[in-house]
Amino acid sequence: MTILTADEVRSLVREDEVHRDLYISPTVFELEMEHLWPSSWVYLGHDSQVPEPGDYVSVDIAREPLIMVRDRDGSVCAMKNRCAHKGTKLVTAPSGKLGAAIRCPYHGWTYGYDGSFRAFPLPKGYEGTRIELKDETRGALGLTRVDNLANYRGFVFVRLSDHGLSFEDYFGESLTSIDNMVGRAPEGRLEIAGGVLRYMHNCNWKMFVENLNDTMHPMVAHQSSAGTAKSLWYAEHGKDEPKPMVVEQFEPFVSSYEFFDDMGIRTFDHGHSYSGVHFSIHSNYSAVPGYFESLCDSLGEEKAREVLGTNRHNTVYYPSLTIKGAIQAIRVARPIAHDKTLIESWTFRLVGASDEHLKRTLTYSRIINAPTSVVGHDDLQCYRAIQEGLASSGRDWISLHRGHSQNESNGIAGDYNGTNEVSMRGQYRAWRDQILSSMEAAHG
Ligand code: FES
Ligand SMILES: [Fe+2]
Repeated sequence: MTILTADEVRSLVREDEVHRDLYISPTVFELEMEHLWPSSWVYLGHDSQVPEPGDYVSVDIAREPLIMVRDRDGSVCAMKNRCAHKGTKLVTAPSGKLGAAIRCPYHGWTYGYDGSFRAFPLPKGYEGTRIELKDETRGALGLTRVDNLANYRGFVFVRLSDHGLSFEDYFGESLTSIDNMVGRAPEGRLEIAGGVLRYMHNCNWKMFVENLNDTMHPMVAHQSSAGTAKSLWYAEHGKDEPKPMVVEQFEPFVSSYEFFDDMGIRTFDHGHSYSGVHFSIHSNYSAVPGYFESLCDSLGEEKAREVLGTNRHNTVYYPSLTIKGAIQAIRVARPIAHDKTLIESWTFRLVGASDEHLKRTLTYSRIINAPTSVVGHDDLQCYRAIQEGLASSGRDWISLHRGHSQNESNGIAGDYNGTNEVSMRGQYRAWRDQILSSMEAAHG
């Protein structure tokens, strides 16, 4: 079912502004679920969530319930969470451990960890029918596998549609941000730690994703939270006094426009980008004793300096995943409706590093990203206000003009000053082109 024509899709996105329907229209949301999210490489989960054979997590992507399972051979596979008999969801918990097989809770059909069909109870009831168990029927009785799956250094992505770019072509050089996050672990591995914080946002998913490289908002939106924390501290302490971890984390949010501009932003094709090319709000955290030495032992000093000298702010893996390598935290957008998005906030342990790093990332997650955080509420308050404001009558077009130049018609990949809105223009360019290309593929 196609809901909008290609010309209607084109008419919603201009080089320097986008139509408000992108945020408030349920029809546009349907279009995204049909064409944008299935043809994108979307983050499913981290392979450390399923360390042992039979461990699983279940996630909905583009309204498709999926299950990610660790198979007996050590690989991670994904399939539709939907029994081949009458369609029952096979698991309903967000994560868990399977028994010897995947067993449907309704009539007990069983499947291997890779989704292949194993058995149904009382097989003689199917003898002589079209699904009598034979070599040629076995395939059709299995679960629907997600064949387009990539496990990049533990980060598992899927592309649900048959149509779309390869994983490498889709993300390209932007994968260096994942490399940097993993490279910070002395043993070269990350592990999910500290559970997940799920935070319902009553706003369109694109407001959240745009915000990640919006460096014109922190000094305004976070003045009342981070700004208050900073002034309370300095009312009683000198500039050179060692600060507690929370003050180190709050303070940079209210840095100057010049600071954020000088950070720089790098954009890639297909909507990906990161802010913090030169330095970032994470650059000046105090060193953890012994860490640099342990990284030197595993990487050599030159490489260790390179890894720790890279302190990117937020990297956006459009449309679903945003990461902070320097603090080992990620946030995942799970769109639910045009005005409802679940944000998952996950934290990682650097395998081989001390618990001080985990403490730092957990503290950051709690004070910045959690449902009970101080800073995250400022953003959510703004997103809700946008959602309500845009639903009222007024100008139909949302400005993305900051830093726009005519040269962008030749492509946007490159380095820019940090307060440029080029990352948002790149996201909407990707939004339009990917939907159009998926629509074209669907209509042959
Ligand atoms: S619906 Fe799954 S076994 Fe019947
Ligand atoms: Fe913010």
